[in-house]
Amino acid sequence: MNTTTKPHDDNNNIVWHSYSVTKDQRGQQKQQQPCVLWFTGLSGAGKSTVAGALEHRLLALGYHTYLLDGDNVRHGLCKDLGFSAQDRRENIRRIGEVAVLMADSGLIVLSAFISPHREERQSVRDLLPQGEFIEVFVDTPLAECEKRDPKGLYKKARAGEIKQFTGIDAEYQSPLQPEIHLAADSHNIHELVDQCINALRSRSIIA
Ligand code: ADX
Repeated sequence: MNTTTKPHDDNNNIVWHSYSVTKDQRGQQKQQQPCVLWFTGLSGAGKSTVAGALEHRLLALGYHTYLLDGDNVRHGLCKDLGFSAQDRRENIRRIGEVAVLMADSGLIVLSAFISPHREERQSVRDLLPQGEFIEVFVDTPLAECEKRDPKGLYKKARAGEIKQFTGIDAEYQSPLQPEIHLAADSHNIHELVDQCINALRSRSIIA
């Protein structure tokens, strides 16, 4: 057991405590490489659907997972936050920290948040060792998301009833080099899950 200061701590009076059971050991016990699969894309792009189907497939293959989802987390941990740029930044910061802790516990973490800004996604990436942040761009064109409009929110945004709606009057910054790029409007869910599974195998996250 030892104590060291974590590099990004800005409070010098709080000391990071390193436990003797390691992330590697927790991952080995589960026969997997812990990581964070970070799904990003517009509202209605299919992030939660693909992440949910992938989690089912991983579970069936015997892997240990947890899915963090924007709509659910905003009912609890982040229920005090709205959709201003500042609140979205804080939303992603909190989720990032939770995802990192869950990965440290040995899990394959799936997160599904719009996370519209490159800088915030990069900040989460920076919290993890190389290769353990896997950005999954659920690439569905705005027109298709708006056509689907599963929660009727685009309609409200167009009518001015919701402000700062991503893709309408708030920006979405597409990933420049995502580890996994899903053309989500031209493939079915099984093909999209297969693409994710193949990418995880090629990165030795799963066997
Ligand atoms: S994020 O931008 O901070 O990453 P998050 O993924 O948590 O967003 O939440 C997005 C969900 O909140 C959307 O799927 C939608 O259901 C709902 N929502 C409500 N208001 C907005 C808004 N102004 N912009 C985008 N999504 C919104």
